[in-house]
Amino acid sequence: MSLETTCLHLHRQHTLGPVDPRVFGGFLEHMGRAVYEGVYAPESKHADADGCRKDVLGALQPLQMTAMRYPGGNFASGYHWQDGIGPRSQRPKMREFAWQSLEPNQFGTDEYIRLCRKMNWTPMLTVNLGTGSPEEARNWVEYSNAPAGTKYADMRAANGSREPHAVKLWCLGNEMDGAWQLGHVPANQYAIRAQQAAKMMKDTDKSIELVACGSCGTGMPTYMEWDREVLEYVGDFADYISLHRYVGNPKDDTPDFLAVTNSIDRQIEEMDAACRFVQARRKSKKRAYLCFDEWNVWYKNQEMNGAGAFAPHLVEEVYNLEDALVVAGFLQSFIRHADCVKIANLAQIVNVIAPILTRGDEMLLQSIYYPFVMITKRRDGVSLRPAVTGPSYESKNYGSANYVDASAILGARRLHVFLANRHGSEHTKVKIEAADLGITGVESAEILSGPGAKAANSYEKPDLVTAKQMTSVETSGGHATVSLPPLSFAAVTFTLA
Ligand code: AHR
Repeated sequence: MSLETTCLHLHRQHTLGPVDPRVFGGFLEHMGRAVYEGVYAPESKHADADGCRKDVLGALQPLQMTAMRYPGGNFASGYHWQDGIGPRSQRPKMREFAWQSLEPNQFGTDEYIRLCRKMNWTPMLTVNLGTGSPEEARNWVEYSNAPAGTKYADMRAANGSREPHAVKLWCLGNEMDGAWQLGHVPANQYAIRAQQAAKMMKDTDKSIELVACGSCGTGMPTYMEWDREVLEYVGDFADYISLHRYVGNPKDDTPDFLAVTNSIDRQIEEMDAACRFVQARRKSKKRAYLCFDEWNVWYKNQEMNGAGAFAPHLVEEVYNLEDALVVAGFLQSFIRHADCVKIANLAQIVNVIAPILTRGDEMLLQSIYYPFVMITKRRDGVSLRPAVTGPSYESKNYGSANYVDASAILGARRLHVFLANRHGSEHTKVKIEAADLGITGVESAEILSGPGAKAANSYEKPDLVTAKQMTSVETSGGHATVSLPPLSFAAVTFTLA
């Protein structure tokens, strides 16, 4: 049995804007085993000269991540950056309160910057607007970005980096509307802190870009109202506003879970509407864009209390095929909103809700690793507006969803098309109608599928859910047809006339 064919109509002139490479960002937090035992493990047989795990960095390489947010997350709201600089033997060991863990501060700003340079990541720092002060945030900008000659820049030089680190992206705190956040305050108080920090930070380096902290989720009572108030007060200092989203399938309803993409589209559109509304009210020329700086599937593992331990096992979520399809859905949504989503960060990169897990010297690539790789290597170009006609279904919570979720990027004489088949048991065909683009052939095609929605890679069976070469793509007369198995995600690059 096979579903009725879906048609994806694309047109060269129907563009949404260039896809910002920074939407393929990541997030590295001092949480659980993300930093220690994850990227940084000097005792490991895989450690390089800087103490970083070569096997993990090698596995991260194909993700080609861009903006790498650090050091949190919730951790950032209790972190004092000066604890993490200078000679390692003199750095304080701290009891940290976001995750109730032990923080030895052996990895800090300078180690992070070195790692970014090694990995070609764009540094993105979150300042502490929970227990920290606007002035402390401003001093971190001086430490990172000012030429030697003043107090904090000289500290950096003394710590071995005479040249500035040139950190362009800065987040003004994290999830400050959440009652769990260290230093949580109401919107009007956060807005004052953020505005004060923003002014001093930009006075220190006017080239930096700032992300105001948006409401941390669509389910929050503060959703939208927080964002409006913060954007109005922080004003033109806000280059971006942050969005966060973690989704899950706690009721084991796969069709509903796969339709969550509808609500990601909607969250983006609502937040963009808030930005445009405030811009209009302020009669400002400045448009704030969206920075989706935490996103992922996360619902199975809720172990968040480190009980005073160093590098405890926290939220080591195991990912399956349906999770991977939802991760593909997030990325497809960002592509479809290339006009307003400029930065996004997969939360996180290793061990903590991550595509990569480690166990001693071993390493495992999880299912969600693959859609990221499949899309990131095809990310260059302009997003095309996808018009999809075809069979659909009514989901329990997210309205009507096409069985085929689609997006497309027009590159240099190439067309990249991404297609997910959300049907649990039926194959489906997608006809790509792209007359004015003139498809001439297939350059590359990959498919991600597996033996069932819950199939997950494990140390025993590491290749159950992986991307494979795809052969079921045909082209003729400038068009193409792609056949998709049930519960699958395809990434195809076509050559154009
Ligand atoms: O990514 C894990 C945590 O989730 C982050 O620290 C926090 O911002 C969010 O609640």
